[in-house]
Amino acid sequence: MESLDALAMADMIVGNSTAIREVRGLVRFAAETRASVLITGPSGTGKELVAHALHRASARAAAPFIAVNSGAIPRELIESELFGHEKGSFTGAMARRIGHFEAAHAGTLFLDEIGEMPLDMQVRLLRVLEDHKVRRIGSNDDVNVDVRLIAATHQCLESAIADGRFRADLFYRLNVLPIELPSLAERVEDVPVLVEHFLSRGFASDNPPVFTDGALAILMAHDWPGNVRELKNLVERAAVFFRGMDVGRDQMAMLLRPARSARPAAVAAPVAVDLPENVVAIAASPRFARPMDLREHLQNEEKRVLIEALESTGGVVSAAARLVMLQRTTFVEKMKRYQIGREMALSA
Ligand SMILES: Nc1ncnc2c1ncn2[C@@H]1O[C@H](COP(=O)(O)OP(=O)(O)O)[C@@H](O)[C@H]1O
Ligand SMILES: [Mg+2]
Repeated sequence: MESLDALAMADMIVGNSTAIREVRGLVRFAAETRASVLITGPSGTGKELVAHALHRASARAAAPFIAVNSGAIPRELIESELFGHEKGSFTGAMARRIGHFEAAHAGTLFLDEIGEMPLDMQVRLLRVLEDHKVRRIGSNDDVNVDVRLIAATHQCLESAIADGRFRADLFYRLNVLPIELPSLAERVEDVPVLVEHFLSRGFASDNPPVFTDGALAILMAHDWPGNVRELKNLVERAAVFFRGMDVGRDQMAMLLRPARSARPAAVAAPVAVDLPENVVAIAASPRFARPMDLREHLQNEEKRVLIEALESTGGVVSAAARLVMLQRTTFVEKMKRYQIGREMALSA
């Protein structure tokens, strides 16, 4: 993969506001170094996008970019996920597993929601940043890793430090190059170009709707709690429902409403604007603020339930299996698949 030039970068991180220009400048600067980067900003402001652009603009572009959401990994699995494990190092460790650090060797590891990282893992991270070495669970040997770390958080780490939830030494290690992404409401001048961008990329890009000036004015006055992600979602819905049509104030009112509403679809108020004939109603639930990978979601849910069942039986597998109406063998099968084990399962 070729690395990003300035033009390609502007195509990826869209916006003409002073803040976004500054961000692109910082990304180009950071790309020349291997220093750790800390990206802060509210959810949906483009933190992951910026991390990816940084990787693509760096000399590491051809090596892996691995994104890990620290907040989404069950606590007891974080160490194994990040550092890997040897076969048999704990119940359920059926095979050697390479951790994300090793997988990102020569490339970039993006640790999202770093503020969620448990304190003991923060110590481990700090050590990797200092020694550039990792050790798999159950191994006595260190493995050298050459990884550029990019961390991100929507939290204020300074107050997390004050509360004793985040280590100051790790913060300083990560914060070598800070990049701050302002909320979309603080850079509304970017709204029209972002709308253009999402229209040209999304569904119906061959025959996109046309946002009137009135519609754009409404979007620029909106407060965007979900930031760019919310705008992208709105533009994509507009493209689906108003393909080739004008999107004016009325359509805008409708597009903005369902995202606000916490009511279930069945009782959503009737929509009083002209809709294409094939469209019966629009009811966007907040859980679809972005496309959901249903299969992955169900797997995560299954894994959570298994762990919860094990926790409620103090790790007794046969009892846990009964709780979820599974055969013990099926339950064990699933534990293996999800690499649940260690202290969790006392009696396999
Ligand atoms: N400046 C931008 N230009 C183009 N797309 C953007 C921009 N900022 C965010 N996006 C898009 O908005 C969505 C949310 O961005 P993301 O990086 O996941 O935000 P965060 O990690 O801060 O929650 C993604 O689809 C991303 O591609
Ligand atoms: Mg994110």
